[in-house]
Amino acid sequence: MDSRQRELASALVERIEIGVIILDAELRVQYWNSFVTQCSGKALEQARKQPLTLIFPEADTPCLSQMLVSARDHGEHVYTEWLPPTYLIHLPFDMSGKTAPLALQTTLLFPFKRSDDQPLLGLLLYDSSALARDNKQLDAALHTLSNKQVEQELLITKLGQANAQLMQSEKLAAIGQLAAGVAHEINNPIGYVFSNLQTLAGYVHDLLRIIDAVDGAVSLEELRQLKRSLEYDYIRSDVEALIGESEDGIERVKKIITALKDFSHFEEDEFRFADLHRGLDTTLSVVNNELKYKAEVVKDYGQLPAVECMPSQINQVMMNLLVNAAHAIEHFGRITLRSGHEGDWVWLEVEDSGQGIAPHLLNRIYEPFFTTKPVGKGTGLGLSLSYNIVNKHNGRMEVFSTPGQGTRFRVWLPARQPAQSQVKEGAVHHE
Ligand SMILES: Nc1ncnc2c1ncn2[C@@H]1O[C@H](COP(=O)(O)OP(=O)(O)O)[C@@H](O)[C@H]1O
Ligand SMILES: [Mg+2]
Repeated sequence: MDSRQRELASALVERIEIGVIILDAELRVQYWNSFVTQCSGKALEQARKQPLTLIFPEADTPCLSQMLVSARDHGEHVYTEWLPPTYLIHLPFDMSGKTAPLALQTTLLFPFKRSDDQPLLGLLLYDSSALARDNKQLDAALHTLSNKQVEQELLITKLGQANAQLMQSEKLAAIGQLAAGVAHEINNPIGYVFSNLQTLAGYVHDLLRIIDAVDGAVSLEELRQLKRSLEYDYIRSDVEALIGESEDGIERVKKIITALKDFSHFEEDEFRFADLHRGLDTTLSVVNNELKYKAEVVKDYGQLPAVECMPSQINQVMMNLLVNAAHAIEHFGRITLRSGHEGDWVWLEVEDSGQGIAPHLLNRIYEPFFTTKPVGKGTGLGLSLSYNIVNKHNGRMEVFSTPGQGTRFRVWLPARQPAQSQVKEGAVHHE
């Protein structure tokens, strides 16, 4: 070090607000800077070559002996913190000579060598109260933050529960809607099958009368008379028609029941590969009763691969879209169902010729409870539920609408679900 550097270094040491004490290996004072002089009120001249513990008796503790062993014998840098009211060395004054409040004293004892190889020890003393205060504030801030986080997690859990409840209530609503539809659909065929049976019972009664008369008949003419009077020819032709019609009716009921079975695996919650067209057809037959008075339904299906999904949930999405489409049509219109695929994605589309959605409402339709329908007709949950379901499938929903002309909803789904690790960030990749 040249003299200029030495000068700079010593200027720094004399100005810095850190106590700097240099000791020899026996802890005798070699030097201290003006900070120590000012704050201890003791002169360096009287202390030089004296044991530190003689000048500062308060330092004579087992702790200092231990620090000495670590620093001198093991070459370690030893940090200690002295919480008020304790300290290693009492510094009762501040730099301006006024009495200073007790501070949090941090000390560092470390070994070094002079250029002639004499082993020495440096002892630094500094006031870390301000730092500790900052730390405390930081701690408090962190604490508040972590409290906030706990609150948020609680809220999220509550929201999750509320959402599950909503899903449940919307499912129930869907089941209710379904039941009403099914009742309506079944009522009609059952009604005419029943009335056909009554007519048939009357016919059978008449036919039995003719057959019974065979035994007691005097002449063939008498039998013919009876046959004519009971309108046998009409009965004969009508019986076949009635039976054929009844068979049709029962067939329809059977179809509806099958569709219902397909549709109503409501609790199923597992991904599997499914034929979406089949699901769409099932859904259509279930909501047919809501649609048929409102619209002509046009199917324009493309080619679809098997799609990895929760089929009953996708059915529910499509049902919501179909019912909304029917609701949007005032008198009689058209609902078009389309499907297709692009690369690894498939899409299903429901387009209606209804009233459309005002542009300023477009970003609200997925909100839970957002509805423009009168009380009792809309829950405002259909689209929010659908959005959740599609989201769970890692898909997305699109809507295009022109007020006065109609609306088109498109549901995009990945044909196969991405690996778990790509879905949830940070999850372990296991394949
Ligand atoms: N096909 C559609 N045509 C016009 N408006 C629609 C259509 N689908 C949804 N909407 C609008 O979005 C709102 C929310 O739909 P949804 O969540 O299914 O609840 P809800 O049908 O019970 O009102 C509806 O009230 C309606 O205003
Ligand atoms: Mg709806």
